[in-house]
Amino acid sequence: MTDTASRAATFEERVRTRDASVGVVGLGYAGLPLAMTFAEAGFEVTGIDVSAERVRAVEERRSYLVDVPAERYDRADGRLRATTDYAAVTDLDALTICVPTPLSKTRAPDISYVVAAAEAVAENLAPGQLVVLQSTTHPGTTEEIVLPILERTGARVGRDVFLGYAPERVDPGNEQWTIRNTPKLVSGVTAECLRRTEVLYREIVETVVTCSSPTVAETAKLHENTFRAVNIALANELALMCDRLGISAWEVIEAASTKPFAFLPHYPGPGLGGDCIPVVPHFLAWRLREYGYSAQLIEAAHEINASMPRYVVGKIADALNEESRAIKATRLLLLGMAYKADVHDTRESPSLEVMRQLLARGGDVRYCDPWVEHVELDGVRHEPVEWSPDEVAAADCVVVLTQHRQFLERPLWEHARLVVDTRNVVPPAPNVHRI
Ligand SMILES: NC(=O)c1ccc[n+]([C@@H]2O[C@H](COP(=O)([O-])OP(=O)(O)OC[C@H]3O[C@@H](n4cnc5c(N)ncnc54)[C@H](O)[C@@H]3O)[C@@H](O)[C@H]2O)c1
Repeated sequence: MTDTASRAATFEERVRTRDASVGVVGLGYAGLPLAMTFAEAGFEVTGIDVSAERVRAVEERRSYLVDVPAERYDRADGRLRATTDYAAVTDLDALTICVPTPLSKTRAPDISYVVAAAEAVAENLAPGQLVVLQSTTHPGTTEEIVLPILERTGARVGRDVFLGYAPERVDPGNEQWTIRNTPKLVSGVTAECLRRTEVLYREIVETVVTCSSPTVAETAKLHENTFRAVNIALANELALMCDRLGISAWEVIEAASTKPFAFLPHYPGPGLGGDCIPVVPHFLAWRLREYGYSAQLIEAAHEINASMPRYVVGKIADALNEESRAIKATRLLLLGMAYKADVHDTRESPSLEVMRQLLARGGDVRYCDPWVEHVELDGVRHEPVEWSPDEVAAADCVVVLTQHRQFLERPLWEHARLVVDTRNVVPPAPNVHRI
């Protein structure tokens, strides 16, 4: 057996017997559920995060994400630890990097977190280690950015250390599709890198799908999210068109959905939110500019989705107008600040933009969101109000932005004077307006 092959056998054996220790860098929406899944599968797991607060929460077994309730710490049985100290990397057999990849103001990918994490890992790299990038990022990041950082240490990727890319597909709050049963794409810089990445993920995921290169896996992840952004834009554009036609977009979609093939329903809403769908298509568009290609559909989808909060505000103004009222000085109750139902996440949430525009027009704006403790908007902190008949009755207009289960399980619509519903959850009535 060659040296590499014998080391590989050792890695495989260590993974299979749970002797391998696993690290997860970045304990957020993507990293913490992954770390927890490895720990539940019997691995000793070390989470590394620059946030002392997150590290403390994990050490104290406190839940701060919907997908990791406190009882999962019990199932992990003390196998998940956390630290802010990258020195812990040295003792790991494998680690994944799940740090943020936001967009800059000019809609270019900001991979500074990936670079910082890769550099800190490189400083503590140990021979034989497998490093897997999991952050969503532009095509080429693994081989053009992370690989040189690791090799600056003198180690050769594919011989001394191993590098893979395995995009995160987690859908926070989705109880049907979890890390375990969502097929996992894996890739490696060399065949041995791929093999080790596959070996690791097979232990926690039912179906592992290999890609021929990290660039394919990186692009596949971007295509998945672009597919969603473009289809949501199509549904939003349908809503804009149906408004002019004087018909219901929801009814049109319901009718079209009866086609048993070649149609996948998507629905309109107040815009796109979360740190993935609104952001990720731009990674692809940005990278392709280097090749002289302009991703027109991605740009068009962005324009439509980004225009939706203003359209919703227009709908609110129209609904109030029919009652001879204006937005100014009118009491408005917004339902749902999170970007989607039953999650805490307000990143990029279109509800924030709706709120901003209503405040700018002088509205007396309050919000209710059982999932969101408070929101910060342009430096001002806003506290939620209760989901109660009194609050609903006191509002001149109730605006449904996010269909949290609390609103649906305890409907209070009969107390509302006027409703603008962007999610098609309120039963039809003369005082209910839909986008
Ligand atoms: N949130 C999702 O639903 C989702 C889904 C699929 C993919 N992703 C991708 O996963 C990646 C992570 O996203 P997220 O939502 O988990 O982000 P997050 O902001 O929830 O968490 C990221 C964590 O990384 C930590 N961090 C930042 N820089 C660090 C560093 N240098 N070293 C160690 N820790 C560091 C932060 O403190 C934070 O705790 C992104 O690329 C994102 O696009 C996210």
